[in-house]
Amino acid sequence: MKYDLCDPKNSRYCCDNVQTNTSDSGLDVVRGLSHHPKTLPSYYFYDQRGSELFEQICGLPEYYPTRTEQGILAAYAQEIANLTGKCDLVELGSGSSRKTRILLDAYTRLQGKFTYIPIDVSTTMLQATALDLLADYPQLSIHALAGVYEIALHHLPPALEQRLLIFLGSTIGNLSPQEEVIFLQQIEQSLSVGDYFLLGVDLQKDITTLTSAYNDSQRITAEFNLNILHHLNYKFNGNFNPENFEHWAFYNQELHQIEMHLISLENQVVKLCDLDLEITLMARETIRTEISRKFELTALTKQLDHYGLPVQKIWQDERGWFALVLCQKQ
Ligand code: AVI
Repeated sequence: MKYDLCDPKNSRYCCDNVQTNTSDSGLDVVRGLSHHPKTLPSYYFYDQRGSELFEQICGLPEYYPTRTEQGILAAYAQEIANLTGKCDLVELGSGSSRKTRILLDAYTRLQGKFTYIPIDVSTTMLQATALDLLADYPQLSIHALAGVYEIALHHLPPALEQRLLIFLGSTIGNLSPQEEVIFLQQIEQSLSVGDYFLLGVDLQKDITTLTSAYNDSQRITAEFNLNILHHLNYKFNGNFNPENFEHWAFYNQELHQIEMHLISLENQVVKLCDLDLEITLMARETIRTEISRKFELTALTKQLDHYGLPVQKIWQDERGWFALVLCQKQ
């Protein structure tokens, strides 16, 4: 059945826009590129093209995290639902909600009607996904929040049920340790006692598997990395020439993180006119565009416990490559 989001008689869907302009000001770009070594905030990957490329990455043979997490969800979603009991589901960075459908199925079996609160920066993505979900889940209500999670977490609709807050895909690994602390504090503050937090994390493993996942043979990850420059050109009226840069991804064994960089292939000066910024790059100098931290479960459990989110149960795949961690706010 087709669902009409504009139908005023519709009571199963609403979307609150909680966007702010602060991330658009480009201050973080200026700061990162004025820094030594140079860095860029990784959320600039995700323009329309970047989101499409990321979808492709998720299906690559070398990129194991998506399908491994999906396998764990398929095996244990019902156990998770039975363990938490009735819940409304809140999801950070919901995107296409593809993996979440496995949880939506399990919670539908458990409780019939409930509310799903997807949070994403892209209003278009939220609407397109909501249309599909409303058609496929006749008992589901959706209250979408369009904006960054820091702001959206302050705008959650009043809780009628216990909540399960979901953060899949090991996106937590893209935060620095300092950012992770702030994030966990925000999560803890946005939950009520007894609410649950389900976290997907990529685990430490052999270096070959890790580095191959970010150096795929079809060079989609390379294109994804270089696309950040197109996005910056578009957004801030710049003249980066992506052909003057090369993708570089390696595993930093000391910090247990994949690092993605763009290597400048020559001495060059680039401008981002709208930011009044001139960037001088030496040949072989790099711009770090992303970190992707890989976790160890004992340390992570301690960290979650320390921030008021004690771990109730952990599920892993057979190879121990990825984990779903269920915490409950005390
Ligand atoms: C979104 N995030 C968890 C991905 C990762 O693996 O860190 C982003 C990504 N970067 C390159 N490939 C995928």
